[in-house]
Amino acid sequence: MKRPIAMIAGTGRAVPKRVMTNDEFAAIGIDTNDEWIRERTGIKSRHVAGPGETLTSLSAEAARIAMTAAGVTPGEIDSIVMATVSPDHLLPAAAVEVQAAIGATRAAAFDVDAACTGWIYGVTVAEGLIATGTAETVLVIGGEVLTRIMDWKDRNTCVLFGDGAGATILKKSTKGRGVLASYLRSDGTLAKLLWRPSGGGAKTVTADMLTDGSFFIQMQGRDVFKHAVRSMADAVDRALDAAKLSADDIDLVIPHQANIRIIEATAKHANVSMDKVYVNVDRYGNTSAGSIPIALDEALGNGRITEGSTVMFVGFGAGFTWGSVIARF
Ligand code: ACO
Repeated sequence: MKRPIAMIAGTGRAVPKRVMTNDEFAAIGIDTNDEWIRERTGIKSRHVAGPGETLTSLSAEAARIAMTAAGVTPGEIDSIVMATVSPDHLLPAAAVEVQAAIGATRAAAFDVDAACTGWIYGVTVAEGLIATGTAETVLVIGGEVLTRIMDWKDRNTCVLFGDGAGATILKKSTKGRGVLASYLRSDGTLAKLLWRPSGGGAKTVTADMLTDGSFFIQMQGRDVFKHAVRSMADAVDRALDAAKLSADDIDLVIPHQANIRIIEATAKHANVSMDKVYVNVDRYGNTSAGSIPIALDEALGNGRITEGSTVMFVGFGAGFTWGSVIARF
C-alpha cells in the first residue's frame, strides 16, 4: 500500500430547498407513479433547484462549510476542481464562478467533466496537484443542477435526477490519513447510451433541439444499468488490488447513488453487506457528480465515518466513465 499523499480535511454539502416527491410527477402530467419509481430505483424524493438557486450558489455554500470544517480560508485555496455536467454557463468554467463567489483570490480553477464519476476524477487530479507541489490546498466540488438539463416530458429520465453539491478540501496527508488508491477508466464507444445529443458545438443550435428533446439528457436505461453493474464491480476489484486490501478492511462503501439495484449488485460483487454501504438515493435521486461528496459529508456528520475509518468510493457515469478511490480518515 502506498503512503498517502493527500487527505480529505473537510467536507460540506448544499441542496435546494424544494423537495419533490414521486407523487408530484403525476400532477405535472407524467405517466408514472410512486410504486414504479421506488421499486425500480429506490428513489422517494429529490431536491429541485428553484429561482435563485444555481450550481454556483449551491457549490459556494457547500464550499464555505467545507472550508470551515477544514479550518481553511478562501485565500488559502490554491486550486478549485469542479466536477459537473450542468454548469451555470457553458463558458466560462463553473469552477471560475465558484472562485469568484467564495473569494478564493489565489486559486487556479477548472472543471472536470466525467459525469457521475466526476468527484472521483476530481479527487485524483487534486492528489496529483498536491503530489507535484503545484498546490497545498485544493477544493474539489461535485455538483449538479440536472433538473435544468433534463426533459421534464420524458419519464425515462425525469424521475431519476436531483440537484445538489458536495465540497471537499484536500490537503497534504498527516498521520497516515488520505487517499490509499485510485482507479479511473472510460469507454467513449458507449457515449450515446447516455448523452445530450445537441446543444454543444457539433451543430449550430436551433429551436428544434428544444422540441425534439435532443437538447436534454437522453438515456438507454437498460443498457446503462448493465454497464453500470459491470463497471462498478471492476472499479471495486481494481481499487482493492491497488491498495492491497480486502473487502473486510473496508469500513464503509460510498457508491454513486443512481439506483438502489445497482448499489446492491455492487455490494454483492464486493462481498460487502449492505450495512457497510451508504445509501441516500431515496432522498436525493441521482445528483451525478454531487452524489458521492454529498453522501460523504452526511456520513462524516452522522458518525458512519470516524477517525481511522477506511472508506471506498466507487462511481460510474456518462462517457462511460468509472472509477474508485479508497481513503483512510
Ligand atoms: N414510470 C413508469 N414506467 C416507466 C417509467 C416511469 N418513470 N420509465 C420507464 N417506464 C416504462 C418503460 O417505458 C417500459 O415500458 P414498456 O415495457 O411498456 O416498454 C418499462 O417501464 C420498463 O422499462 P425499462 O427501461 O426496462 O425499466 P428498468 O427496469 O430497466 O428500469 C431504469 C429503468 C430505472 C432507468 C433502470 O434501467 C436504470 O436505473 N438504469 C440505469 C440508470 C442510471 O444509472 N443512469 C445514470 C447513470 S449516471 C450518469 O452519468 C447521469
